[in-house]
Amino acid sequence: MQRKNLVSIDDLSKDEIMKILRTAQYFEENPNQKILDGKIVATLFFEPSTRTRLSFETAVQRLGGRIIGFSDPAATSTSKGESLKDTIKMVSNYADLIVMRHYLEGAAQYATEVTDIPIVNAGDGANQHPSQTLLDLYSIYKTQGTLENLTITMVGDLKYGRTVHSLLIAMRHFNPTFRFIACQELQMPEVYKKFCEKEGISYTEHTDFNQAVIDTSDIIYMTRVQRERFTDIMEYEKVKDLYRLRNCMLDSARSNLKILHPLPRVNEIDRDVDDNPMAYYFQQAGNGLYARQAIICRALGVTLPVE
Ligand code: CP
Repeated sequence: MQRKNLVSIDDLSKDEIMKILRTAQYFEENPNQKILDGKIVATLFFEPSTRTRLSFETAVQRLGGRIIGFSDPAATSTSKGESLKDTIKMVSNYADLIVMRHYLEGAAQYATEVTDIPIVNAGDGANQHPSQTLLDLYSIYKTQGTLENLTITMVGDLKYGRTVHSLLIAMRHFNPTFRFIACQELQMPEVYKKFCEKEGISYTEHTDFNQAVIDTSDIIYMTRVQRERFTDIMEYEKVKDLYRLRNCMLDSARSNLKILHPLPRVNEIDRDVDDNPMAYYFQQAGNGLYARQAIICRALGVTLPVE
């Protein structure tokens, strides 16, 4: 197996996605193995993270590898003016794989152009978050028993939400029906709606998060309105709390419905939803460990007993 980048979810065919999900399942059953002995993974986080960085780092450690990196670029020579190119070239001298989050769209792609070691995109601006998508797909598959023919309702910040963008693209293989729930300011960008039209994916748009939509969904994918992407804070204040899922809204939902959220949550899911069996966002984040173990092994070309 060759070493492979993961920059965009487009990098993966349907077969490759399914193989990563089978590998994630393998790691869920066998999480502790010394298969990365002697490997060093660098985690370069130019933006804040809790789940992505810590689950990647846990994944490496559970597989016997070692970690270098940073979670605060202010503590690196970036703060002295060192360019992204120079930073990537330097870290490539020390590590076998770079996992990188950056605030600029296209930063991970750029990194692949200045180094020969594999790059895994841990989120680039409002563009993509492919490792999140793989754990989302794993979570959907685990809870629904299939990825095919599901009705997925995406709610909140569909403009800047890189997780919904990546998930939408990945689902093209599985004949989904989408509902996009967002205010005018945060609607799904045209480029993704055109993508749906080109791929023959059915979608509807709503500004109202109503009961009929909830009651006919298999997955509700809630998202946070991302304050850090707004240039005008007043615009953020205007839209930040428009959509809120309350426990009472789930009384007549389908029995298979699961609530997903990439997290962190702010106010968009009431705390009383957490105890509802339909709430799956904490388990979803837990699945990130296994999906990221699979992603790391793919990136490093590790052979595993998974067809
Ligand atoms: N879902 C996600 O990317 O979470 P973090 O920002 O905490 O990594």
